[in-house]
Amino acid sequence: MTTAIDKLNQLFSNEMSLVNSMIIERMKSENAPRIPEITLHLTEAGGKRIRPLLTLACAKLCGYQGDKHIKLATTVEFIHTATLLHDDVVDESSKRRGKPTANLLWDNKSSVLVGDYLFSRSFQLMVETESLKVLEILSNASAVIAEGEVLQLSVASNIETTEETYFKVIEGKTAALFAAACEVGGVISDASAERINALHEYGMKLGLAFQIADDVLDYIADEKFGKAIGNDFAERKLTLPVIRAIEAGDGEEKAFWHKTISRGQQSNDDLRTALGFLQKHDTLKSSKATALDLAKDAKNTVSIFEDSELKETLIALCDQVVERLV
Ligand code: IPE
Ligand code: IPE
Ligand code: MG
Ligand code: MG
Repeated sequence: MTTAIDKLNQLFSNEMSLVNSMIIERMKSENAPRIPEITLHLTEAGGKRIRPLLTLACAKLCGYQGDKHIKLATTVEFIHTATLLHDDVVDESSKRRGKPTANLLWDNKSSVLVGDYLFSRSFQLMVETESLKVLEILSNASAVIAEGEVLQLSVASNIETTEETYFKVIEGKTAALFAAACEVGGVISDASAERINALHEYGMKLGLAFQIADDVLDYIADEKFGKAIGNDFAERKLTLPVIRAIEAGDGEEKAFWHKTISRGQQSNDDLRTALGFLQKHDTLKSSKATALDLAKDAKNTVSIFEDSELKETLIALCDQVVERLV
């Protein structure tokens, strides 16, 4: 079956090979070979490249004719790669894209510093697009991502965390970059404010749906997902399925969440018990339903664009990020 991501990769195969070459070119460092070593480790492991594809797609949707979209798409993937390096340190993750993480193979210090380098490189690239508006959008998104990660850190292990806070976290750490990736495609095309706004909303809703799906998968994913199962539970993260299960749980269940999440006392069987409670209250399913609602909102936002194969692909992508057929 051809998925929406496959389709986007087909539609933008020339552009994506330019983006991939630019990634290699711009990660180089004359003085510190560890930078390209670590970056290559991560980029050669693959990754869906969903964010740069969105930038290219949104530029095309707005009829872009120039060549700055390549730099822009590369910038977006650099920001994403930098956040992954930092995120795996913060989350103490051991697996990314099916391979051991850089923090495991090298160390935390290297991951943080190489992440910083990639962030700086992304800023150099966005300056080269010569658009102050692009600079504003992407620098804002970078700040908001960090804010989301810090907010998440500060509410981790707090079982009183509300859905409202959860949404604030995922809007910051994930959806903001999806929104920016889409929006800048419209900005370089000099699209109307209405179109640019629609692209921003599309990316935002898609990003929220994407992260909720990711949080559901953290409890059920298998090998092909490329990340270890149960990381969020080990990190005592209050993700949507857990917030809903705590809310619906009885006294005994609340005591379990208090022990494992608030106090961090986890033993071997606890992940299985936690999963049992999520299943009992159907919160993996209800979270997926919330993600599908957001996916539907995302689809509606692109209705203002003329019909095309590309528009259909962007619409198909919405459900597929939730089903993770991408
Ligand atoms: C991982 O993003 C980080 C999240 C926002 C969940 P992706 O799932 O897009 O990661 P890659 O780039 O495809 O590996
Ligand atoms: C993803 O956070 C957001 C960023 C990388 C900024 P997660 O920690 O939820 O994502 P994974 O599961 O590690 O990819
Ligand atoms: Mg993580
Ligand atoms: Mg994280």
